[in-house]
Amino acid sequence: MSSTFEPERWAEDMMRETYRATTREIAHRHLDAGDPLGWFEALYAQAGDDTSIIPWADLKPNPNLLDWLNQNGPGGSGLALKVGSGLGDDAEELARRGFETTAFDISESAIALSRSRFPDSVVSYVVADLFVAPIEWKARFGFVLESYTLQVLPPSLRAKAVRCIASFVAPTGTLLVIARGREPSDPEGNMPWPLTREEMSFFEAHGLKEVSFEDFMDSENPSVRRFRATYYRKP
Ligand SMILES: C[S@@+](CC[C@H](N)C(=O)[O-])C[C@H]1O[C@@H](n2cnc3c(N)ncnc32)[C@H](O)[C@@H]1O
Repeated sequence: MSSTFEPERWAEDMMRETYRATTREIAHRHLDAGDPLGWFEALYAQAGDDTSIIPWADLKPNPNLLDWLNQNGPGGSGLALKVGSGLGDDAEELARRGFETTAFDISESAIALSRSRFPDSVVSYVVADLFVAPIEWKARFGFVLESYTLQVLPPSLRAKAVRCIASFVAPTGTLLVIARGREPSDPEGNMPWPLTREEMSFFEAHGLKEVSFEDFMDSENPSVRRFRATYYRKP
């Protein structure tokens, strides 16, 4: 089937590719210098108010989260934590659905931008590093959301990141993880590095039980292979 050339769409795609390349360049500069976490603040600070250069800044909640919430519907009460909250849209959605929500990001600029985007927000926005998070967050949250942070951490940091994320889930609590997915035989590729199913299974080594695991092509254009997994902590 022949497809029609759409100049506006083409220009948007080209622009997006340019921003992705800039992001990778900033990331690799830090990664090569042995600083795998420094590039997030560098990118947000460079962006300032022009969030269009941040590849993941859709300025709306993640559709794969919305779909999951609509189907599984936890909401109405309880403490929720959003890991790597970026510009705050997912955290705002959790708060809108009734969760008492804390959202954290390693980037001060991202947190400042979230607060300024949502001046009347009830979300508690916190600058924190996943790897040295406040001790009082341990086993505190009935709902923990991790979407798209693991995939921007180098694979060498994943096992530790998984342990830290799992530690936030309260007894009987739920963890939802959404990430790019790949087969172990596929190349690791460029950042964002897709996860393997085995990497996802590390959550089960930290007292969590897998309740569902979905492997699907999402609705982006071009569509992306995603894993969406739900875990439960026993009482
Ligand atoms: C790919 S972005 C995704 C942001 C958001 N979840 C979204 O989907 O729009 C990953 C986010 O994780 C944050 N991040 C990366 N490493 C982190 C760490 N160690 N602790 C807390 N946040 C981190 C980054 O600053 C960035 O905002």
